[in-house]
Amino acid sequence: MNNLKNLRGTVDLLPDQLIKWQNVEKIVLEQLARASINEIRTPILEMTELFIRGIGEETDVVSKEMYTFKDRGERSCTLRPEGTASVARALIQNGMLSNHPLQKLWYMGPMFRYERPQAGRQRQFHQLGVEFIGYDSVRSDVEIIALAWDILGKLGIKELNLEINTLGDLNDRLNFQKSFLKWLEINKNSLDLDSQNRICKNPLRILDSKNVQTQKLLENAPKLFNFLSEKSRKRYSNLKKNLEVLKIPYVENFKLVRGLDYYTHTAFEITSGSLGSQATVCGGGRYDDLIKQMGGPNTPAIGFAIGLERLILLAGREFEIPRNTDIYIINQGLIAESLAMDLSRKLRNYDLLVELDLSGASFSKQFKKANKLKPKSIIVIGDDEAVNGEFIIRLFDQSGNRNEQEIISFENDIKLENWINKNLLLN
Ligand code: HAM
Repeated sequence: MNNLKNLRGTVDLLPDQLIKWQNVEKIVLEQLARASINEIRTPILEMTELFIRGIGEETDVVSKEMYTFKDRGERSCTLRPEGTASVARALIQNGMLSNHPLQKLWYMGPMFRYERPQAGRQRQFHQLGVEFIGYDSVRSDVEIIALAWDILGKLGIKELNLEINTLGDLNDRLNFQKSFLKWLEINKNSLDLDSQNRICKNPLRILDSKNVQTQKLLENAPKLFNFLSEKSRKRYSNLKKNLEVLKIPYVENFKLVRGLDYYTHTAFEITSGSLGSQATVCGGGRYDDLIKQMGGPNTPAIGFAIGLERLILLAGREFEIPRNTDIYIINQGLIAESLAMDLSRKLRNYDLLVELDLSGASFSKQFKKANKLKPKSIIVIGDDEAVNGEFIIRLFDQSGNRNEQEIISFENDIKLENWINKNLLLN
């Protein structure tokens, strides 16, 4: 039999790699808590219809990329390709919008899209998403963009580009579409094949075609911006002013339409040149009609999602360093081993990182292992210590040289605590 392998586009995250993930996630979570955003967890598996109605049937995500299957009860299920539709469903279903019409929420977890895997693009990937529900002022657009920008900043990620655009409201887009469709019909034969197919299905997406000839042609096409109402235009210009006040640099990109159908007004992406072809680390925008369209009350909203794999690629090497072991306990002998086990539990109550050697190997082998790990201190417990009822704790400096040592009785918790406070917790 062949060895079993993971599915294409999925990845094992191994302990060494997860140190960076955990360090990065810690900073992200702190930043979210500081902004008073609450967590929400929705199922990974949803009814297929949720995404068809929420994201749009003709989008690439829904028409080409979903992991959809029938469960044993013949229901069509889909592994979530994104989080916004699920959050909207959960809020409506749990009646959360009547009591708390304003909500700031975040979620983190795996998403699934059947795309061609490449660097920075997987079939199972992870997103951190933030959704501001019930907010319609431009200030919420600015806060959401600032939040994404600051999360990336807190991680020391530099050379980022923020691209913004406005998609107007439904009316603006319908007006634009009429004129754009006319233009598309006339120019149909000069468009690339992909764009030709999109004319009936999703004409707005033609605007962000990667085809050079199509892009050139589009320069002469009607511009969505010219079809915006006075109100939509004002909103957009307010957004720009506010970003300038906060000194968040942006570039306008009128081709930015995003791949999901629910967006209205503000759309934005944050990209980094160092990510190669999959340059977008964060994408988001306003979706004022989604919740109503899904059967909920009329509720404006805006949000973004950061791709965690891309975030990890961008975060520096300083996040790869694990937390130092505070105490390594070397132990051997029947009674010694049980004393060591007891002591390790006591020490962990002080919020110390304690490694108890369970190898049963010789003292010298255990010492070798400990030296490799470079713990801040080492405790040795053998037969002598078991008989005498006390152990030695040795402190080391950063280069691994021994600093000082102390003999402490197994019973003397006060002496132990004082030593820990002085040597391990205050430094
Ligand atoms: P999205 O642009 O489809 O937006 O995805 C957001 C981010 O997820 C992307 O910018 C990228 O970093 C990451 N991502 C997407 N697909 C993949 C993949 N196959 N492999 C690795 N990373 C990927 C959304 O999903 C919206 N729900 C964002 C949003 C929230 N809009 C409003 N609220």
